[in-house]
Amino acid sequence: LNEEELYRPNYHFTPENNWMNDPNGMFYLNGYYHLYFQHYPDGNTWGPMHWGHATSLDLVNWKEQPIALYPDSLGYIFSGSAVVDYNNDSGFAKEGKPVVVAMYTYHDPVGEKENTNTYQTQGIAYSQDEGLTWTKYEGNPVIKNTGIKDFRDPKITWDSFRDKWVMVLAAGQETQFFESSNLKEWTFLSSFGEGIGNHNGVWECPELIPFQVEDSEEVKWVLLVSINPGGPNGGSATQYFVGDFDGKKFSVDPAFKLAMQEDHNFWVDLGKDNYAGVTFSNTPASDGRKIFMGWMSNWQYANKVPTEKWRSTMTIPRELTLEKVANTYRLYSNPVKEFEAHYGETDLSWEKRTFKNGESLLDENKIDLSKARISFNLPDANKNFTFVLKNKVGDSLKFGYEAAKRSFFIDRKKSGIVDFNKSFADIKSVAPRISTSGEIQVELLLDKTSIELFYDKGETVMTEIFFPKEPYKDLIITGLDEGLLIENLTIDQLEFKQ
Ligand code: FRU
Repeated sequence: LNEEELYRPNYHFTPENNWMNDPNGMFYLNGYYHLYFQHYPDGNTWGPMHWGHATSLDLVNWKEQPIALYPDSLGYIFSGSAVVDYNNDSGFAKEGKPVVVAMYTYHDPVGEKENTNTYQTQGIAYSQDEGLTWTKYEGNPVIKNTGIKDFRDPKITWDSFRDKWVMVLAAGQETQFFESSNLKEWTFLSSFGEGIGNHNGVWECPELIPFQVEDSEEVKWVLLVSINPGGPNGGSATQYFVGDFDGKKFSVDPAFKLAMQEDHNFWVDLGKDNYAGVTFSNTPASDGRKIFMGWMSNWQYANKVPTEKWRSTMTIPRELTLEKVANTYRLYSNPVKEFEAHYGETDLSWEKRTFKNGESLLDENKIDLSKARISFNLPDANKNFTFVLKNKVGDSLKFGYEAAKRSFFIDRKKSGIVDFNKSFADIKSVAPRISTSGEIQVELLLDKTSIELFYDKGETVMTEIFFPKEPYKDLIITGLDEGLLIENLTIDQLEFKQ
């Protein structure tokens, strides 16, 4: 099998050619979801950054579009966001059509070489044709740098409580908040981050999101902050804070702060491959969903993963919700509901069964594991389990639960090609279980090179990539405790019409 057949995902976004990292500028307008992304169109490793572009009607099928933003005399185009300016606050709208305004970081490679501390500034651009083509604002940069080396990744949010635009960006190991009434002039409000959260790396790609807490009228604000390195299983990862925003300052909720001190386990995803994720702006008011997408890689090895034609993939879009759990708040992620339309006729299902160690779940060849969704319940959370994906050449990917440690794991040490970087598979990734329920619920999505695991209704999430030398064909249960009962195990074949 060639690289295309073996590794090009069935339903995850990849650029047709060359390098991609962070998702950027995601928004929804007139039926279309827009995804921009950090892109180097002239090479398959990181280089001078552009914004690539892709669109989707259903968050599942993506169509790549022409490049949206090219570097210019102010620098490369680093990460940022976009909003639909329905009220024309910016004055950029034409002929009454909604204008889209993007804000991004200029990274000036000359200033970087000269070792200045001021080479990252913020610029804006606008689109009068629903995100297809962009005009850069002649007044750029709109935010200059006062001497902070890492000063980037502006994410704009509409503060509907105070009717103004609010923006958060990363500044060293903190975030800074700004406000604006016209998206062009920005006023500094406050900074956040000193002495709280994980500081084992640089803070990147923050986002401030208002949530209505599930089953309540309460509003809480979540601050996402990606960090690299310093992730719980090494390298890049995204932490989150829950608190309040009064229009000027973000302050962490006292109960959340306490829980953080005890537990530290406030990560969007505890697998190694979900970074720099943020949500779409302007999702339809009728559903108001917070739809999140991340870059499915890790800076430890992103430039080395064994694909040549393109490099890197996005996660599937996930819906984020905020729940009150045991005196604190927890962020949940689940696959967007649009995937349900792609479940084929259920191929295999068992209502209640005790499995034998080593038992195969597949009637070989019946199910294509490179596009499958699996779900099941374990009625006894005190028992271990391991699932193994296998092929004929001896590659195997393991995932499961260790009851004594109360943690989920993914082990890709023998998953196929792993030797391109020592951090790729040196340890097995571990995610401490949050839920204390006696029953574990599991949902997972498999593609050719990825597994996305959603435990306990999305309370603990693990996303990882892998590169088997041949496709995995079998799925085996091992490491079972005596009498482990599995309920409602279903394997759906995902179907995508071309
Ligand atoms: C995160 C990041 C951002 C930056 C971009 C550069 O992965 O480092 O902070 O804007 O990538 O490509």
